[in-house]
Amino acid sequence: MKPRIVVVGSLNADLVQRIDRLPRPGETLTGSELRIISGGKGANQAYAASLLGGRVSMLGQVGSDAFGPLLIASLERAGVDTANILAIEGATGTAGIFVLPAGENIIILSAGANGTLSPAAIREPLKTLAADSLLLVQLEVPLATTEFALRMARERGAITILDPAPAQTLPAKLCALVDYLTPNQTEAALLLGSTEEIESYERAEAAARKLLALGPQNVILKLGALGVVVANSRGCERVPGFPVQAVDTTAAGDTFNAAFAVALGEGKPPLAAARFANAAASISVTRPGAQSSIPQRAEVDQLLSVK
Ligand code: RIB
Repeated sequence: MKPRIVVVGSLNADLVQRIDRLPRPGETLTGSELRIISGGKGANQAYAASLLGGRVSMLGQVGSDAFGPLLIASLERAGVDTANILAIEGATGTAGIFVLPAGENIIILSAGANGTLSPAAIREPLKTLAADSLLLVQLEVPLATTEFALRMARERGAITILDPAPAQTLPAKLCALVDYLTPNQTEAALLLGSTEEIESYERAEAAARKLLALGPQNVILKLGALGVVVANSRGCERVPGFPVQAVDTTAAGDTFNAAFAVALGEGKPPLAAARFANAAASISVTRPGAQSSIPQRAEVDQLLSVK
């Protein structure tokens, strides 16, 4: 039986260019041809969870421009239930993405319809959450809406997974509703109010322990190529990544979260789920774009069978 996964979050049209370097203030540079790719942290997680084996519903909002139908169509091609994506008057969310030669990206968001997704808009569909479901949320829709979704999921016994991206400080009452908090290094530092670089397992373990004190049941600290650290009240474990040549890291974190949810929903323990998620994310960074980079389930199973 496929795990039931509900995603509450953003849908963005990603306007992507590859560049050799960042411009200085006042400077004009030419990048690659512009590509329009379906993205948004919420939509990427829904897309990936569906490809990787979940029964997925996406709750979110698009605008009345041409991007809305494009983003919904992409999710439908991946098998996501889009019946609860609302279309409102105005602009769809967009993300200007600049990808540097080593694969890192710089993202500038324009929230569009994501910025007004209200608790009222998601209340009815969230009533279908049950103890066998998982909720995936991120931080590209209003915080009150994310907190509302987490509360409804918790009341119904569903597993809650919060990707605290883009980074912002979080109220303790929201953190207490989270079963799995999954920051990357930058997000973890911001949540802790620290300027220290988290670039080793040792520092990640120390940061993960401090993050647990904010209230989530488990912390999964994403360390890029190093893999992740999984921390909870029983201790801290390292789950190494899969070495690959990265061309574009866009949506790697989204792929990780979706894969982790699918694996948990299939009954894997957290460490095995993290290994599965590391494998999925490692494939995504070898390909350009957001949803365009997300692997099929068979590709992840194949990678895990040879490693
Ligand atoms: O996580 C990657 C995503 O962040 C992109 O698809 C972009 O839309 C931004 O939301």
